[in-house]
Amino acid sequence: MVGSGGREHALVWKLLQSPRIQEVFCIPGNGGTAQLDRCRNIAMGVSDFEGIARLALVNNIGLIVVGPEVPLAEGITDYLQQQQLMVFGPTQAGAQVESSKAWAKALMQEAKIPTAKAAAFTDVDLAIAYVKAQGAPIVIKADGLAAGKGVTVATTVEEAIAALEASFGGLFGAAGQQVVIEEYLEGQEVSILAVTDGLTIRPLLPAQDHKQIGEGDTGSNTGGMGAYAPTPIVSSALMEQIQVEILEPAIATLRARGIDYRGVLYAGLMITPQGEPKVIEFNSRFGDPETQVILPLLETPLEEVLLACTQQRLEELAPLAWKAEAAACVVIASGGYPEAYKKGHPIQGIDQAEATGAIVFHAGTKLKQEQLVSDGGRVLAVTALGSTFEAAIAHAYKAVERIQFADLYYRKDIGHRVLGSEAS
Ligand SMILES: Nc1ncnc2c1ncn2[C@@H]1O[C@H](COP(=O)(O)OP(=O)(O)O)[C@@H](O)[C@H]1O
Ligand SMILES: [Mg+2]
Repeated sequence: MVGSGGREHALVWKLLQSPRIQEVFCIPGNGGTAQLDRCRNIAMGVSDFEGIARLALVNNIGLIVVGPEVPLAEGITDYLQQQQLMVFGPTQAGAQVESSKAWAKALMQEAKIPTAKAAAFTDVDLAIAYVKAQGAPIVIKADGLAAGKGVTVATTVEEAIAALEASFGGLFGAAGQQVVIEEYLEGQEVSILAVTDGLTIRPLLPAQDHKQIGEGDTGSNTGGMGAYAPTPIVSSALMEQIQVEILEPAIATLRARGIDYRGVLYAGLMITPQGEPKVIEFNSRFGDPETQVILPLLETPLEEVLLACTQQRLEELAPLAWKAEAAACVVIASGGYPEAYKKGHPIQGIDQAEATGAIVFHAGTKLKQEQLVSDGGRVLAVTALGSTFEAAIAHAYKAVERIQFADLYYRKDIGHRVLGSEAS
């Protein structure tokens, strides 16, 4: 397992439920994976391809799962495949669905996938002229990976121009020297994570996350402050439409470009007020924290799914089996996140939280002389299941309240969009 976040902890946790998995090496892992039986953290960077290949070859590793987008965009899969290793995660060419928004938009246009109208620019003056002609609201996106900070939803032309000047001025380095300017879409966002072997593509349960730091979905964007699944916004008819209009054309068009995409294709969608799904972006990996609500609901052994993708036999796999429950996840962050925050605070109460039956995934933690301490902006992701969203959310918060560390912060309204809609 390559990575160190809550997503990777959830993937390892799920894999280890299968007796077929002898052992997992986590590169570099976190305080949560360090405490799992049959799991070993290895202090090695996610971009140390040579080190990862050597470790995998020496230990006869059967499957390498890549969590984050950065090593995928850097070509980790290409490198490891050249060493005859099995990798779940797209090649560098495939990872462009996420690492270049202009490339992804061109793919969507070629595949006739519904998405916001857009244009790409490498020249700031042409970009400004385009914004002035289009008017606001309008969305400005740095082309490359920007750790979730590269997008401005501008409500005025002035704000849009300021975003363009910042991007071309170097705020995101090379990632901002091209921008995509796109039409503003209204609606509800949903996350459709799908697994694919390059030929067949199958969606996982639909999820929704809360990107903003503040209650009522206000304030700065974060990596994600909570999530829930399966969201009732996506009916089975809508899921079928997403499969036919978005997922299948994406894979077919990738193939037409000579890209054999094996891994997760994550479609971030806007469901418009008319009920039409439009792609906001593609990601080349599992979502965080969506993974922390999707995997606890999955009944099919995860390694069967991942191996079917890497061995290109997903079509033969039985339909994915799911628990008929709701899952909710509340992220506990360090005070100050997503701006400056402190690390190294001792964490208490995880056992008490887990004693409620909730699952505590670690995102930014580490073991420091046997003491668990905070080690990132997002520190923990607490997931609970229930027969209704109301029950799952209440259970997650009951567990969250048992956890303490200095200056912790979490949103108290995770799932508010589904709570109102649920029949009681
Ligand atoms: N066309 C759009 N219309 C309205 N909001 C958008 C649009 N594109 C992006 N956004 C908002 O900005 C957020 C980040 O944009 P996204 O394309 O997902 O980039 P990234 O996740 O790489 O930062 C989205 O989750 C959504 O809230
Ligand atoms: Mg996004």
